Amino acid sequence: MAGALAHIAIIMDGNGRWATRRGLSRSEGHRAGTRTAKAVVTRCRELGVRHLTLYTFSRENWSRPKDEVGLIFDLLVEYMKGELSNLLEQDIRLTVLGEMADLPFVARQALSHVIQKTAHCRSMTLNLALNYSGREEILRASRALARKCAANDLRPEDITDETFAAELYTAGQPDPDLIIRTSGELRLSNYLLFQAAYAEFYFTETLWPDFDSAELERAIADYQNRQRRFGKTGSQVAD
Ligand code: FPP
Repeated sequence: MAGALAHIAIIMDGNGRWATRRGLSRSEGHRAGTRTAKAVVTRCRELGVRHLTLYTFSRENWSRPKDEVGLIFDLLVEYMKGELSNLLEQDIRLTVLGEMADLPFVARQALSHVIQKTAHCRSMTLNLALNYSGREEILRASRALARKCAANDLRPEDITDETFAAELYTAGQPDPDLIIRTSGELRLSNYLLFQAAYAEFYFTETLWPDFDSAELERAIADYQNRQRRFGKTGSQVAD
């Protein structure tokens, strides 16, 4: 059904507001958000989406209250432990976009285990953006290329879209076709800055815990009705 839609990237926003509106703690919002993430992974897999990226924890999120950061990583560890068998069953490979070395030890351990166990899975790649910063990712790639040039392994004129993309966390994966952000915020928030060059955007007022299969399918249908021009005119694309 998803046709040319190879990669969906999502900014899961609004867990806190969802909880506050119900008189619940923010933790309950993140718990509900985790349930939504599980359902979206399964639905994307059923729809034949080959790559799904979820913005799970940005580098900027470290400035949240310590308890909330701890809770998010507890949920992540729970998710890793509870979902491994489902990921294997659905043939989903897990990867992390972001600097894993700075994550809490238990989270790193749980993630590494699932990454290793699912490395052979081919039907879908689930990228969790964790401790992620789009600008830092670009700087990291620039440093890697600069080191290759300094070592005479690469000429500056040979730095292309492709050689640059090969140094990103998403190396080997297609750019996102569709970026979804929930909760009515109209920002990219340092997400996939290089990879988002030609992405289509879908913004919805729906808070992340309420983002269900029907809404996911609406976002996909909306995407499929758009004409992606990649800088060409409408009639050139129609030809
Ligand atoms: C945004 O809501 C959500 C986050 C900062 C990330 C946490 C995401 C989850 C817990 C989903 C978990 C997914 C997995 C795969 C474990 P917010 O707190 O920014 O909401 P607000 O803007 O309403 O306060």
